[in-house]
Amino acid sequence: MIELTTVAELRAHLDAARARGRSVGFVPTMGYLHEGHASLVRAAARDADDVVVSIFVNPLQFAPHEDLDAYPRDLDRDRQLAADAGATVLFVPGVEEMYPEPVATTVSVAGVSAPLEGESRPTHFAGVATVVAKLFNIVGPCRAYFGEKDFQQVAVVRRMAADLSFPVEVVAEPTVREDDGLAMSSRNAYLDDAHRTAAPALHRALAAGAEAIAGGSSPDEARAAMHAVLAAEPLAEVDYLDVVDPTSLESLQSFEAHRGRAVRLVGAARIGQPRLIDNIGATVPAAAD
Ligand code: PAF
Repeated sequence: MIELTTVAELRAHLDAARARGRSVGFVPTMGYLHEGHASLVRAAARDADDVVVSIFVNPLQFAPHEDLDAYPRDLDRDRQLAADAGATVLFVPGVEEMYPEPVATTVSVAGVSAPLEGESRPTHFAGVATVVAKLFNIVGPCRAYFGEKDFQQVAVVRRMAADLSFPVEVVAEPTVREDDGLAMSSRNAYLDDAHRTAAPALHRALAAGAEAIAGGSSPDEARAAMHAVLAAEPLAEVDYLDVVDPTSLESLQSFEAHRGRAVRLVGAARIGQPRLIDNIGATVPAAAD
């Protein structure tokens, strides 16, 4: 694995690779890599000849009250994990390299950015879309791999890539979970022992909602089933629990138009210091004959 820090070096390296007929897989990250990232790198290595992993803690996607400087970092561990999973290029640009001037041009994706995470973090997805657009332009034609754990992020990136005609195929990979169901996330590093024990309640809540849907419940009943599980966990403070259309992310009031189709259960809760998010899929039973 080679390590590059400038846009020019990465472009030159990948242009030369593509000229030799090599395909490129790309895994954008903010570092502090875990098994979830490793699964994305392995998926990219399965599909492509060269696998670029970027590590860049993007200031644009943090609000002023969100502590950018406290974001966990461990570049030595990241190097090892990326190389072991099959990365061939590690791209680690500094802030000066990515944003040499104050940013005047941003990308915002209307609609899918607005609900759920967008309500608590109104500037977050414009920050994500802007840096991902820059990274797609730097990396060039590729398949880019994102974790389904950040379901709304995938929807935003897909929509941006389609609307702006990036030569990039966006691939979503399933969430990797701890044995007790907790979705792997760099933010889990902030959980102390008591909150780590409480944290799988978020996944249990989503699973209860999915079970309710499979049993014929309405969206409101599924939401109530999810809230009941989290209400029983005193260390969890719910932000939202919802059942949404998997493409538009609109909250569903009825399942009539979704009979026999997939819906997504999504949730966010503060559990101690970190605010955790998670989601799972469910299929609405087809109408009885
Ligand atoms: O999911 C992340 O780690 C980040 O939001 C991303 C996609 C790397 C953009 O900074």
